Amino acid sequence: MKRPKLGVNVDHVATVRQARGEHYPDPVHAAVLAESAGADQITVHLRQDRRHIQDRDVRVLRETVGTRLNLEMGATEEMVDIATEIQPDMVTLVPERREERTTEGGLDAVRRADELAPVVDALQDAGCWVSFFIDPSAAQIRAASESDAELVELHTGDFCDASAAFHNRSDTQSSRQAEYDRLVEAATLADGYDLHVAAGHGLNLENIAPVAAIPEIEEFNIGHSIVSRSVFVGFKEAVREMKEAILESREHGFDQV
Ligand code: PXP
Repeated sequence: MKRPKLGVNVDHVATVRQARGEHYPDPVHAAVLAESAGADQITVHLRQDRRHIQDRDVRVLRETVGTRLNLEMGATEEMVDIATEIQPDMVTLVPERREERTTEGGLDAVRRADELAPVVDALQDAGCWVSFFIDPSAAQIRAASESDAELVELHTGDFCDASAAFHNRSDTQSSRQAEYDRLVEAATLADGYDLHVAAGHGLNLENIAPVAAIPEIEEFNIGHSIVSRSVFVGFKEAVREMKEAILESREHGFDQV
């Protein structure tokens, strides 16, 4: 059995800092606490508009992260220059639109194959593993494999949305199950292509169990729910709880999708 890993996304620690233009809370401090509480990876998204994580954060994290640093970014020339200079352990390519509240939908690895090829080459030449954040679809997984990505991160947003609806309405069980089946099939397919498989977006303590039980998924990148929960229980405890929930589900399964 693969021991699942937790990547903690500290973007929203920076969101709180940027809201007041202060120098605190520092995502670097959060990363230290996350690692001491069992995080296996620290993830940050350097957005074009710098709304939360700043260039300085990525540079300092490169010096301080002792596990693995995963930089999420759009496949732009500016970001490729930054990544090849800072050399995070891994780069996750995400689609990015300025007006979106958070990453909406996966990267279109099929239609953007020609544009992504030199980006993947440049990042791999700089020593970074490359992950594609994609929707759980066969065509996207095939395209990621053909682009020589080392990993795919499956977008769990639709499953999480269906799960949130399920809490409010009893007639949404079938869409929750359908979204879950898509994730299971995608994880199996990606594993068959010898891609490492990650998952993320919208995961929280209420919906993590079924996703964490999918054996092909090696790592989970989780941010908003951990930072939100840390307001009440502290950052280390929020990370520890999530790691425990992931390990518990992988080991003992879950009750109901
Ligand atoms: N993975 C990717 C590729 C993302 O873009 C995000 C959001 O920044 C996450 C994981 C984390 O999502 P959330 O903050 O909803 O846990």
